[in-house]
Amino acid sequence: MRSAVRAALVAPSIFNTQPWRWRLDPPSARLYADRSRQLLVADPAGRLLTVSCGVALHHARTVLAALGRIVDVVRFPDPADPELLAELTVDGCGEPELEQLLAAGAIQRRRTDRRPFGSRLVPEAVCRALARAAERQGAHALTIGRDRVALFALTAVHAALMELSDPDYRAELADWTHRPPWSGDGVDTASGVRAVARRVPVRDYAPFGGPTLPAGREDDRGARYLLIYTDSELPGDWIRAGEALSAVLLSAVSVGLSTAPISDVTELAATRDELRELLPGPGHPQIAVRVGYPADGAPPPPTARRLPEEVVETPPR
Ligand SMILES: Cc1cc2nc3c(=O)[nH]c(=O)nc-3n(C[C@H](O)[C@H](O)[C@H](O)COP(=O)(O)O)c2cc1C
Repeated sequence: MRSAVRAALVAPSIFNTQPWRWRLDPPSARLYADRSRQLLVADPAGRLLTVSCGVALHHARTVLAALGRIVDVVRFPDPADPELLAELTVDGCGEPELEQLLAAGAIQRRRTDRRPFGSRLVPEAVCRALARAAERQGAHALTIGRDRVALFALTAVHAALMELSDPDYRAELADWTHRPPWSGDGVDTASGVRAVARRVPVRDYAPFGGPTLPAGREDDRGARYLLIYTDSELPGDWIRAGEALSAVLLSAVSVGLSTAPISDVTELAATRDELRELLPGPGHPQIAVRVGYPADGAPPPPTARRLPEEVVETPPR
């Protein structure tokens, strides 16, 4: 349980806020939301905070599965405590599946790569396998058809225009892209890229300047965009969406793809409504993911994380 919780600390989160706390009580561990880390402008309902915690939960479950542990997971185990998101308890041993071993191996290698991906097309069969990985977590992952990517791009343009014209959003972005080095959180502009011609623009983390990663010469021609959505819109769905996001990311990395979550398109009611039009039926868009084959060159550098002692509470022995 200790290894699993430690591994879950590298999970991706909105603006790298790492909005979670863990309480270890072997053979159990409890995952709590840390509301002090909520983005009040980009995420006023705490939806993406909960999605981020869902990613951390799935990371921990994946490590436990790879260690051959059978785990009982209860989401929202205490109705009186909405901050307690999940409780995991080891209640047996088994043999891990190869897929679980590969996913656990991908945890430390995964990075958000904001550079455009290459022209090698991600096969349809891979997208279908990623969708099944999301379904197993209780959410859906729609691969946006190539004829509808232009609509998705328009939504991304709308989201960027509306958010960047909001002084409160700009202040929040400036805050989380200029964190002191000891904070162990935030998105350094150096892991972003400047705007270049590409199929769908990505969030600009450096609208005020600052060093960025060279974008390279690719333009996302072979990339695919998956939209993770749920049937209803309860906090339990947000956790499931996060678990599905983690499953998609780790499965994609384990087959050699690079990945980048895209959530600005779901942060505003207006653009979220635009996304609904891409869905095959009723549903609630939660977050999108860009997957693709990276251009050659080194992967992006790892981003900061808080120290385990700041995040994990361990009972005295
Ligand atoms: C819920 C969620 C939303 C995110 N939204 C975006 C986004 O809109 N654009 C982006 O470039 N990265 C996004 N990310 C990626 C985070 O910024 C990234 O995980 C974090 O900075 C840590 O970096 P790493 O993924 O390389 O470890 C998101 C991640 C999560 C879990």
